[in-house]
Amino acid sequence: MAEKTAGEKIGELRDRLAKAQHLVVLTGAGISAESGVPTFRGQDGLWRQYRAMDLATPEAFQEDPKLVWEFYNWRRELLAPLRPNPGHLGLVELEKRLPKFTLITQNIDGLHQVAGSRNMLELHGNLWWVRCTACGMKEEDRTVPLPVLPKCRSCGGLLRPHVVWFGEMLEPPVLNASYEAIEQSDVMLVIGTSGTVQPAASMGVLAKRTGSLVAEINLDPTPYTDAYHISISGKAGDIIPQLVDG
Ligand code: OAD
Repeated sequence: MAEKTAGEKIGELRDRLAKAQHLVVLTGAGISAESGVPTFRGQDGLWRQYRAMDLATPEAFQEDPKLVWEFYNWRRELLAPLRPNPGHLGLVELEKRLPKFTLITQNIDGLHQVAGSRNMLELHGNLWWVRCTACGMKEEDRTVPLPVLPKCRSCGGLLRPHVVWFGEMLEPPVLNASYEAIEQSDVMLVIGTSGTVQPAASMGVLAKRTGSLVAEINLDPTPYTDAYHISISGKAGDIIPQLVDG
């Protein structure tokens, strides 16, 4: 049988979404690429220019918190002027239309929230939040740049970015809520993620195992492309609006 065209796959997915009861969406850096956020593993990817282990680990922060904060201040400066794109906005529309909707994102850029997404689980934290290394206080702080080194308002302790670094555990309540949503979902979309970082990478397969229809939207093939029910090759900002409007 001939491979279905992108248009046919989009139509099939749109019909399935119209009947969905609980949609779970997992997003990665690809959905923010069209807003101007660099991905991690693409041609100009962040981890091609910088060594993650020097900048995004608890050890790096312990050794040189100033260097790590300068890196995060640079990323905050880069992201501050960026706006959500039609991909983010399409997901907001799907959330409004469907009985139940859960967005699980690996992105720390906060663009889903700016777009208007509500029921959201941020697996890797958020670049616009800080956390005290001494008392655990967490708060949103959009100051750009933050003073290096930034100090906690309540106890004077050293603040760190409220993001998950390599070698750190994801927050158990966020992870548990993600698994619960996946188990309850009947459709899952996996958008703009290379499927290389666990546990997010295997969430689509888990959804398939628990009976959901799983569709991938990605510019390039991933290790899971052939495993999902539907895989659509293209830009999230082109395809998601077609799922909403078609
Ligand atoms: P990657 O940079 O690994 O992958 C981005 C994926 O998006 C690639 O498969 C691209 O082909 C695809 N892509 C690029 N532009 C796209 C577009 N316009 N539309 C659709 N797809 C597009 O990013 P992630 O998979 O998100 O973790 O990376 C996972 C984690 O690795 C990140 O959360 C981060 C990183 O290390 C932490 O910082 C803990």
